[in-house]
Amino acid sequence: MTSTFPAHLLPATARAARDGLEIGGLPVADLVTSFGSPLIVYDEKHLRARCGEIRSAFPDGASYASKAFRCRGIAQLVHEEGLGLDVASGGELAIALAAGVPPERLTLHGNNKSLSELHAALTVGVGRIVVDSDDELNRLETLAHEMTTGPRVLVRVNPSVAAVDTHRSIRTGHEASKFGVALEDGRAEALVCRVRQSRRMRFGGVHIHIGSQMTDLAPLRQAIGSAASFASSVDAEELIVGGGLGVSHGLNDNAPDIATWGALARQSAEDGGFRGPVLAEPGRVLTATAAVTLYTIGTIKRRATTTLLAVDGGISDNPRPALYQSVYHPLLVRHPYATADIGDYTVVGKNCESSDTFARDVDIPGNPQLGDVLCLPVTGAYTYAMASHYNGLGRPAVVLVRDGAARPILRRETVEDLLRVDLVS
Ligand SMILES: Cc1ncc(COP(=O)(O)O)c(C=O)c1O
Repeated sequence: MTSTFPAHLLPATARAARDGLEIGGLPVADLVTSFGSPLIVYDEKHLRARCGEIRSAFPDGASYASKAFRCRGIAQLVHEEGLGLDVASGGELAIALAAGVPPERLTLHGNNKSLSELHAALTVGVGRIVVDSDDELNRLETLAHEMTTGPRVLVRVNPSVAAVDTHRSIRTGHEASKFGVALEDGRAEALVCRVRQSRRMRFGGVHIHIGSQMTDLAPLRQAIGSAASFASSVDAEELIVGGGLGVSHGLNDNAPDIATWGALARQSAEDGGFRGPVLAEPGRVLTATAAVTLYTIGTIKRRATTTLLAVDGGISDNPRPALYQSVYHPLLVRHPYATADIGDYTVVGKNCESSDTFARDVDIPGNPQLGDVLCLPVTGAYTYAMASHYNGLGRPAVVLVRDGAARPILRRETVEDLLRVDLVS
């Protein structure tokens, strides 16, 4: 058995020290001692480096899709690094504003924005609103009297790209998708005309987003090409190509890098005849590998075919195994090496569902014991952000580490937090 330190699945500053895994110059076992378990640890240097790669790959501009992981600490960091923020609800808008991100750096998204969300966006003066339907444009028009500056309105188009190599729940550019308006039957053009005719709005451009966790970029090339030729036909000021770049989850995965994605986006836009600014909205690729989740093993059960290691979190803090059948490569913090071999261990959570399984039949070098801390890499995107209170579990604390210091950015939720919304005393 050959085991390796899986650097490509870990934050940039992760290293195997004599006492175990370190991130940001800190032994992660000490972080659990200080902040409790489970714990999510983000590497600040990794996040800042990724922002830099995104700026270089998309020199016309990029906004972080804050749905991947949102809190004020991340919004501030991303803003300091020169990215805008994509917000997909009134809640995400409020968090970005509370973080001090200037409204003109925000893009409002969503396939069913409410009147109050549109109203809030217009009142503060968000930089862009991406309209997703005629119904939504009707709502925007009812608020026209609120529009002092005339918002920049983009139209989200659906390029009808079916063969995207990702889980069906995160494909968003196929014909039956709930997102955007169809390019093919003239509806997108009609919506652009309506925006143009409105005296209060300014037509800003065209938007697509065809899916997430894509590692084959061919469908993206096709979708950007179609959107670009439409953008040029309607004289759009800019083209936003969404997010979608996938990350490696497996020991042998080799996901494309951000520079490759940027070059492909630019080239596909040019091939489609669009010469204006091309912008992006990365989410996963910025935060996924920047974080690990640390869990403590509390129960070990031997079964005929496997040994179950039960940890102190589960699909309530990371629903991806239940939603997308995602699997992880757990590492032992005191011996952070992994092997691609099939092994004896199955890692389960403490939620009352059998889908609450992070890894099946994997090898975990180092002989895991009760009380050991396990590290789940690549858990910085769409994990905490999609977490629930299932089984009355509060969400974990989140810390940002850098140069030997840890800064808590979200505190652990307590039973008092759960009871706060419960009105019967
Ligand atoms: C409109 C839009 N832009 C960007 C993203 C970010 O996608 P990803 O996290 O795959 O980069 C999403 C995610 O669903 C999205 O809906």
